[in-house]
Amino acid sequence: MSHEPQTTEATDSTRPSWAAHELAALALTVGLAVWVVAQWGAAVQPQRNTERDEKRAATMAELRMANEEALNSFGVVDESLKRYRIPIQNAMTLVVELGAKNIAKEVAERTASPTDLKLVEIPDPDFLADVSELDDPSLIAQGKTLFLTKICFTCHQTDPAVPAPAGMALRAPKFLGDFWGKERLVHKGFGGPLERVVMGPGYFAESVSAAGSGLRVLKGALTPMPPPPPVTEEEVKALMAYVRSLSQGN
Ligand code: HEC
Repeated sequence: MSHEPQTTEATDSTRPSWAAHELAALALTVGLAVWVVAQWGAAVQPQRNTERDEKRAATMAELRMANEEALNSFGVVDESLKRYRIPIQNAMTLVVELGAKNIAKEVAERTASPTDLKLVEIPDPDFLADVSELDDPSLIAQGKTLFLTKICFTCHQTDPAVPAPAGMALRAPKFLGDFWGKERLVHKGFGGPLERVVMGPGYFAESVSAAGSGLRVLKGALTPMPPPPPVTEEEVKALMAYVRSLSQGN
């Protein structure tokens, strides 16, 4: 019994030294762990990056090859339209030879009328006795108002400075420049076979009538024209006169 306090004392005196050992061991373990992680990180991380970089470089190289190939070879763009591409170098030489203006004309002509497609004639509507009726200024003025009230303007841009956002989204044709009497490439029915028509009274009247708006769909438009608000024949005539008056050729 009398030894007991001594034992207790001895035990107490050894305690700090055990704690110190434990602490040292813990510190060593943590240190080791940190070192291992750091080493592993240094060894593994860059390798991963390199792999990814290599893959990326390979993809870039492939894309660049495809670009080079597309820019420097002859190829088929659209068989149905007989449209082909030529190497960029040849194209640049052509542009220099023809001049930028003529190239634009050339391209417009070629894209507007591939000669192998048939030109469909759409007869003038019955309500138009003679095309000269469309020269009437008061009819044109009436058409201008209708173009607003029948919301045509939301899709068909008529002023170079005022875009028509809905029309941009649907790729609706703009009534700008020299377009009246010019050929249009249209699908017979949405996504149907292509044919050529002339932007004139017959085609215009057909496009604007509710029944005809989906009959022929301009190539390049995202959707057929949604049927417009009901318009009478007189109103179609006025709209026609106005739209025709916007064309530079008239
Ligand atoms: C919601 C948009 C929208 C509105 C509103 C709209 N159109 Fe269209 N219109 C189109 C689209 C898209 C096309 C092309 C697709 C097609 O030919 O059906 C088109 C085609 C046309 C064409 C054929 C033009 C061409 O160059 O081939 C005429 C003409 C026309 N619209 C007149 C009108 C008139 C007139 C109005 C008002 C009564 C009107 N549109 C209202 C979207 C619209």
